[in-house]
Amino acid sequence: MAAEPVNLNEFQELARLALPKMYYDFYAGGAEDEHTLKENVEAFHRITFRSRILVDVSRIDLSTTILDYKISAPIIIAPTALHKLANPEGEVATARAAASCNTIMVLSFTSSSSIEEVAASSNAVRFYQLYVFKKRDITATLVQRAERNGFKALVLTADTPRLGRREADIKNKMITPPLKNLEGLLSTKVSSDTGSNFEADANETMDASLSWKDLEWLRSITNLPILIKGILTREDAIKAVEVGVAGIIVSNHGARQLDYSPATISALEEVVHAVKGRVPILMDGGVRRGTDVFKALALGAQAVLIGRPVVYGLAAKGEYGVRRVIEMLKDEFELTMALTGCPSVKHITRKHVRTEQERI
Ligand code: FNR
Repeated sequence: MAAEPVNLNEFQELARLALPKMYYDFYAGGAEDEHTLKENVEAFHRITFRSRILVDVSRIDLSTTILDYKISAPIIIAPTALHKLANPEGEVATARAAASCNTIMVLSFTSSSSIEEVAASSNAVRFYQLYVFKKRDITATLVQRAERNGFKALVLTADTPRLGRREADIKNKMITPPLKNLEGLLSTKVSSDTGSNFEADANETMDASLSWKDLEWLRSITNLPILIKGILTREDAIKAVEVGVAGIIVSNHGARQLDYSPATISALEEVVHAVKGRVPILMDGGVRRGTDVFKALALGAQAVLIGRPVVYGLAAKGEYGVRRVIEMLKDEFELTMALTGCPSVKHITRKHVRTEQERI
């Protein structure tokens, strides 16, 4: 058995050792020069704390509530594709870990376990992530299946009219296994340009004409609350509130779409200021430490989502690995709260952090 990692970055290294290079690169990679991939992590490093001392922190309460669901900490599982490349149990193992950590799992539209398998495997609160296909009825069918199987909200990923250029996948001629929920619906055509079936499939099926007015269509086929994932500007945040979304996820898709998008932690405050508390704001991208969770909350997020660390945990140690990843992040976050003088998440304020632009 591999050594016990002591932080999330060590899980990444274990995953690298455990996985075939093609799969590790698929999980770890970003778009083009991977500038944003690095920035997502490094922008957190440039934020420092303004800790308060002599606060009673003998008890720390990490819990929070997202869309009426009380969870143990503001740390949620982001939708990431194809967990069976990491572990044969796939998203079923991830869902079990989410349940045992009392958090929310967002199941990817491109999952390798089916909606029904995931629903049957645990009582975790689950949201379902959506892509909208040119063939709208495919998306509509999956919405109905998610609804029927007790998923509590939809997360519309809106930053993917086409797939970003991920050069590691092109070099590796990445071929993905069939997607369980989409069996028989996608071709297995391989792009002659890139040698990768993932991009060919995505670009063939994804509806690049999707626009704000289509939110009406989505609302007409479901009663579930809808969150939009992929917002990075005040303009889009305001639009999202206007069309009546239940929440916003500030995200650059883990830097896999448009390189030179800003680090999400740098884009967060612009969105927070525009939304003015009208809907909850979550963020993801580069969260690797409990200190990062704290910084995101101080800048106005209600919770963070974690993508790659979950698949690294899964690849390294299966369901237990995912649980450890979440527990470690929670432990680090709790310690950060104690050392900044915040006994509960409500105590975390903008004044507890200092960004690069700010002077003392
Ligand atoms: C993703 N992401 C993603 N997002 C989405 O809405 N649907 C999806 O199917 C996927 N698939 C996916 C696969 C892999 C391998 C990665 C790494 C990411 C993006 C994901 O939800 C999230 O935005 C980022 O992963 C967050 O950044 P970190 O935590 O990975 O740095």
